[in-house]
Amino acid sequence: MIYMTSKQLTPREIVERLDKYIIGQGDAKKAVAIALRNRWRRQNVSEELSEEISPKNIIMIGPTGVGKTEIARRLAKLDNSPFIKVEASKFTEVGYVGRDVESMVRDLVELAVNMVKSEEQENVKPKAAEIAEERILDILLPPKPAERKVEDLVSDRHIEMHEVEQFPQADTTREKMRRLLHEGKLDNRHVDLEIQESRSGPMIEVFTSSGIEDMGLNIKEMFGNIFPQKKKKARVKIPEALEILENEEAQRLIDMDKVTKAAIGRVEQSGIIFLDEIDKIVGSDSTHGPDVSREGVQRDLLPIVEGSTVNTRYGMVKTDHILFISAGAFSASKPSDLIPELQGRFPIRVELDSLGKDEFIRILTEPHNALLKQYIEMMATEGVTLLFKDDAIAEIAEVAAVVNERTENIGARRLYTIMETLLDEISFNAPDMAGKEVVIDGSYVKEKLENIVEDEDLSRYIL
Ligand SMILES: Nc1ncnc2c1ncn2[C@@H]1O[C@H](COP(=O)(O)OP(=O)(O)OP(=O)(O)O)[C@@H](O)[C@H]1O
Ligand SMILES: [Mg+2]
Repeated sequence: MIYMTSKQLTPREIVERLDKYIIGQGDAKKAVAIALRNRWRRQNVSEELSEEISPKNIIMIGPTGVGKTEIARRLAKLDNSPFIKVEASKFTEVGYVGRDVESMVRDLVELAVNMVKSEEQENVKPKAAEIAEERILDILLPPKPAERKVEDLVSDRHIEMHEVEQFPQADTTREKMRRLLHEGKLDNRHVDLEIQESRSGPMIEVFTSSGIEDMGLNIKEMFGNIFPQKKKKARVKIPEALEILENEEAQRLIDMDKVTKAAIGRVEQSGIIFLDEIDKIVGSDSTHGPDVSREGVQRDLLPIVEGSTVNTRYGMVKTDHILFISAGAFSASKPSDLIPELQGRFPIRVELDSLGKDEFIRILTEPHNALLKQYIEMMATEGVTLLFKDDAIAEIAEVAAVVNERTENIGARRLYTIMETLLDEISFNAPDMAGKEVVIDGSYVKEKLENIVEDEDLSRYIL
């Protein structure tokens, strides 16, 4: 099946992958893992039944900075599902009045088309490379001997007429050239190429982004046909020429109809839309200025979440089986404040825990992209060896927890501001300290941050 994703991870494997980046939040990880696996299950039941099974959409509820968006982001990278993240609140913004929520489905299709296209590009690459090589050889080789007069050959090479018979065939010359090409001996030579200028001029872009594609017309192609593609001559080095020709051939080899079909199939069967900030479209519609009615946005969302058909420039897309994962802090509201029809479409609710000192210690050190690792690597580029003692890490986590408690709880984001403040001097002076080792211990952290932490006003500003 074309829309099947390449790897089918089990829920346990999905959670394990997420664990590499996100500390704790087991319930949320499990919920998204099950939802993902359910797509695959649905695709494997009988066709009749599979139409009946609707995705179990999820609402992730939790304070700010505890990993909601991060889970979604990492999930997207786990498998090949087309995935986009949309801020639900953007549909209420002034500038977006009239911008229909269906655009998120269109964006998803656009993304899927690119995704499938670049996969196809990988597939045809060997073939494209082969053709590109032949084309370069065509350019490099002088006219074929068959087209040259034998007399020329003879006078050129000072050879006798009777030797012409044994003269190396054109093919061997070509093979010699090919070998030189492979060995990189021609890398500094230039060739003349006719390059097609890309089709989408800036003017055309303006049209398509303003929603004309609603009509399901492919504006770009229309204009592309009116204005013939421009060709320009260019003199480029051979490696670059190979690349250009390879791309050109790849475009030619790709069957765009097939790509589009596959992309739409993938969106319909395994697309995921992450609706962030869903709590921002909840609520007291006490007309805050010119905002679009929030409940209105919910009503607009409803058909898409429930399943409808959206017209895109690649064709009709059914949204029935797209998985929606939404997230919100829900500090001033509850999921039950959503309009009832929408609530019913998000049957799975998971709460994320707020983070404390212990989690902060782990967040600082454990994830693949852990903050401390990032700073250590950054300083290494300056030749500075940065070392964090355990008591320093504990102290940083402690400060984060305390400041979160005293001022505002912004979760793990607090670690970022604290680390910046902690290391600002070292960061500034690093270029002068090449070859040195800098050890950060508990007392360094205390010394650097104590005054700020103790002064609540100061910590509001700095940390
Ligand atoms: N549990 C966690 N494990 C590892 N890193 C985390 C965790 N929670 C948050 N972070 C880090 O903190 C930052 C903010 O997290 P994230 O964007 O997921 O917050 P959020 O829950 O979506 O908050 P908001 O409600 O404000 O959107 C991210 O860069 C992420 O790396
Ligand atoms: Mg977020």
